[in-house]
Amino acid sequence: MGAVITGWGSAVPDKVVTNDDLSARLDTSDAWITERTGIKERRIGGTTSELAIGAGRQALERAGRDASEIDVLVLATTTPDATVPGTSATVQHALGVAGGAFDVNAACSGFVYSLVTAHGLVLAGARRILVIGSETLSRITDWDDRTLAVLVGDGAGAVVLESVDGPGELLGWDLGADGSLRHLLKCDHGGYLYMNGKEIFRHAVRAVVDSSTAALERAGMTAADVDLFVPHQANARIIFAASQRLGIPDDRCVVTIDRYGNTSSASIPLALCDALDNGRLQPGSTVLLSGFGGGMTWASAVLRWGGR
Ligand code: ACO
Repeated sequence: MGAVITGWGSAVPDKVVTNDDLSARLDTSDAWITERTGIKERRIGGTTSELAIGAGRQALERAGRDASEIDVLVLATTTPDATVPGTSATVQHALGVAGGAFDVNAACSGFVYSLVTAHGLVLAGARRILVIGSETLSRITDWDDRTLAVLVGDGAGAVVLESVDGPGELLGWDLGADGSLRHLLKCDHGGYLYMNGKEIFRHAVRAVVDSSTAALERAGMTAADVDLFVPHQANARIIFAASQRLGIPDDRCVVTIDRYGNTSSASIPLALCDALDNGRLQPGSTVLLSGFGGGMTWASAVLRWGGR
């Protein structure tokens, strides 16, 4: 008994905010943002539930499934619509999901945490799970703070995971956390996002490299076996520093940060959808997902696309 992804979908707001738009009102420039982060533009707007509903609906359509066939909805978000109820309740109702629904907050690692959890739920007897990462970081960003305003974006990505006979797609995984670093990235109730960018950068590269290596070891593999690397999109320099240390060639990395900025737990499913829509994954391809975020948390998963 195992599970495979059978459908995927994404949703981003229509409103595009370019680096030049930000430079018009902040002391920054397209050259600085591009060189330091790799971001050219981001999408801003909507609510976390609206984006999640859009991505979830598309994933269900692609899987050829009705929401009434879903046993569990897992929604990764660090920007819920409200403290209570969970945003997953709104999404469950709008889509008509028949089973349970809960939120996961593991910051930017949330989607991979949720995907690994969903594989475990299948082992416990669930047949179909909708996993969504959805964020509206723009709502907790101080748009007068150039250090954060240039980084964030809104969006959502979703997958349908279905049980199969046989071992399924998950070959290895790694989940980790170090709460002694929680001061590096935080947002108090009613406040704005705060980040120590330099320190996060330093820890992020190590977290992605170590976590990816642990997941690959669990799968009995090395980085040389990876056909496609789908990392969290926080900074193009972090992505390439990590991939180079792992020994994964640049052309095997998925980079979407230029179009979406940092969308926290939506960034990995958005990048995965982009790769799938561009035909970069074939049955049998080995995919490495790896993210890091506030907490700090980190999470990696090695998948054999289409299962074993
Ligand atoms: N535009 C222009 N100049 C800027 C900007 C800006 N937007 N922001 C900072 N600067 C200036 C600084 O003031 C500094 O000036 P100084 O040299 O005169 O003091 C200079 O640019 C260099 O600043 P650094 O902070 O050293 O720049 P760095 O190369 O470290 O890049 C960045 C900053 C992009 C934030 C980087 O540290 C980073 O990406 N860190 C990790 C971010 C991350 O991964 N976050 C995780 C999650 S975030 C989330 O979930 C929302």
